[in-house]
Amino acid sequence: MARTQVGIVGAGPAGLLLAHLLHRRGIDTAVIDNRPRAVIETIIRAGVLEQATVDLMHEIGVGDRLVREGAVHHGFVLRFAGASHRIDLTALTGGKYITVYPQHEVLKDLIAARLAAGLDVRFGVRNTSVHGLDGGRPSIRFTDADGQAQALECDIVAGCDGFHGICREAIPAAARTEYHRVYPFGWFGILAEAPPSSDELIYARHARGFALVSTRSPTLQRMYFQCPPDERPEAWSEARIWDELDARTQGAGFRVKHGPIVQRNVVAMRSFVCEPMRHGRLVLAGDAAHVVPPTGAKGLNLAAADAFVLARALAAYFADGSEALLDAYSATALRRVWRVQHFSWWMTSMLHRFDGTGAFDERRQLAELDLVTGTEPGRRLLAETYVGQPFG
Ligand code: DHB
Repeated sequence: MARTQVGIVGAGPAGLLLAHLLHRRGIDTAVIDNRPRAVIETIIRAGVLEQATVDLMHEIGVGDRLVREGAVHHGFVLRFAGASHRIDLTALTGGKYITVYPQHEVLKDLIAARLAAGLDVRFGVRNTSVHGLDGGRPSIRFTDADGQAQALECDIVAGCDGFHGICREAIPAAARTEYHRVYPFGWFGILAEAPPSSDELIYARHARGFALVSTRSPTLQRMYFQCPPDERPEAWSEARIWDELDARTQGAGFRVKHGPIVQRNVVAMRSFVCEPMRHGRLVLAGDAAHVVPPTGAKGLNLAAADAFVLARALAAYFADGSEALLDAYSATALRRVWRVQHFSWWMTSMLHRFDGTGAFDERRQLAELDLVTGTEPGRRLLAETYVGQPFG
């Protein structure tokens, strides 16, 4: 049976960042994923990196391309009641900012570096199962892309296999508590070939529902608008999509720039946390343990924070067998997870249309937006939570 110190299930942000951080500390890892590499490298997700995530990419040695191709944003715009309000992130946080660089580009950089270092990462595996987490020898079994049955003996199994992964389910139901919130809407996302409409991201609250004007590159733009949770992307004509985005974002001389829509998808909206994030020899990181709604783009950054805390804990464990940090991993990670859950829920609740909650709630929502744009403490809290806190 093959052996490694940390067997990592999932080659998404949590799994790959963890693998790189552990490798830098001299710890042997193997990474498997049931998706082909090409799928991982093309799935469209959010594109906002906190400074701590950028710092982690540099620590791993893969920060060059994101500095070259990513865009630094020093602020963003909240648009409601027909007016725009700029949140000056850098001025409000003592110099911090965010970097717009798509998640799949982060993954391309991490995969390329892993392969260049000659380290084990296997795509397109099937029938993955995990064993021996409560005692004895942990192992991961799977069928590799060539159809060969494989077994990998590990000291620790890291479940980085996302919300629909198998690792979380390996924790007995009686030993975990799951917290769920499903929102009664989704996001209709598009990629359009057009120049940027705005220098900074625009989060818009409108009576018709939320809209977000983001960007990908000087020639490709990412935009979203709130839609029914079961909306079918192909049911919309391009003209109808632009009408909806125009209605929710235009005003005071502003209008989004139109162009051919080259990709579209509907994003589900949920909040989810599994506690604890460790069971015996199994640790969870990223979406396997928690999901945030996309508003504020925290998912990848939260996965990076998990990987940071977990790598430190595992380094101590493999250095001298001390389990103190590993024992503390779940509580340490969950503290940040719940804060970010609050932030993502807060952004979502301030900016979306909630049918059936009445005129009182709409007024309350506008008052909250007034608080976070019209007062210094409000702006500061929003800016500090948007740019994110250091990982450790
Ligand atoms: C993007 C997504 C988000 O959820 C967000 O808050 C900002 C930007 C994006 O995909 O660009």
